[in-house]
Amino acid sequence: MKNLEVVVSPALLPFYHVKNKTVVVIDILRATSSMCVAFKIGVEKILTLASAEECKLFKEFDFIIAAEKDAIKVAGFDLGNSPFEFENPLFAGKNIALATTNGTKAIKYANENGASAIVIGSFLNIDVLCNWLIEQNNDIILLCAGWKNKFNIEDTLFAGAVVNKIESNFNVDCDSALAAKLLYVSNKNNLENLVRASSHAKRFQLQSFQTDDVKYCLQMNSAPVLPILEDNYFKKII
Ligand code: MLT
Repeated sequence: MKNLEVVVSPALLPFYHVKNKTVVVIDILRATSSMCVAFKIGVEKILTLASAEECKLFKEFDFIIAAEKDAIKVAGFDLGNSPFEFENPLFAGKNIALATTNGTKAIKYANENGASAIVIGSFLNIDVLCNWLIEQNNDIILLCAGWKNKFNIEDTLFAGAVVNKIESNFNVDCDSALAAKLLYVSNKNNLENLVRASSHAKRFQLQSFQTDDVKYCLQMNSAPVLPILEDNYFKKII
């Protein structure tokens, strides 16, 4: 049976064997949730970049440029990183360049460490993702973007939901996968309250967000798409 592992922070990735494995990048609040929304409404491609400065360069190539730093939209960009911003039918057929605090950096790390496939995971595409992972029959790493290399609740909670759904098809010899699953199973009927208690949800409150991004990012299967990295761009394969 193939292996299933959970990495709770990109800082721990060097301690795992990544080469030739399928990596699911997880950034529930909000990068991977927003990416799923973008593909749901018909965005063509998403280029993820590690910095807002790099991202801005793509404006001249007719990309929609989106960037946030510490949850706040970067001045001069078309979008920040709220899923509400991405849910715009006018973006259908367009390309987006995206840079976020943690999520797009985690993608870069996974790519630099030799993953054979990099896909996007969120509660919005959880069933499409899990069915695809089972079909691939490859070793899997669920990579949590966390917060500046620290653990965060929401990403590991989602990783636990995935472990809980697919573990019968894999060899799970990984304490972080077991811990993630236990975190999910013990809170699966209380997800919103738990995520609202997270440090990042509190950052949203401190910034007086006008949109309820936490509630949006917990809408199970509301964006049943599967974004995968192909030739440096994310595209939708389902
Ligand atoms: C991240 O990169 O951690 C998130 O995307 C930040 C956010 O959107 O608030």
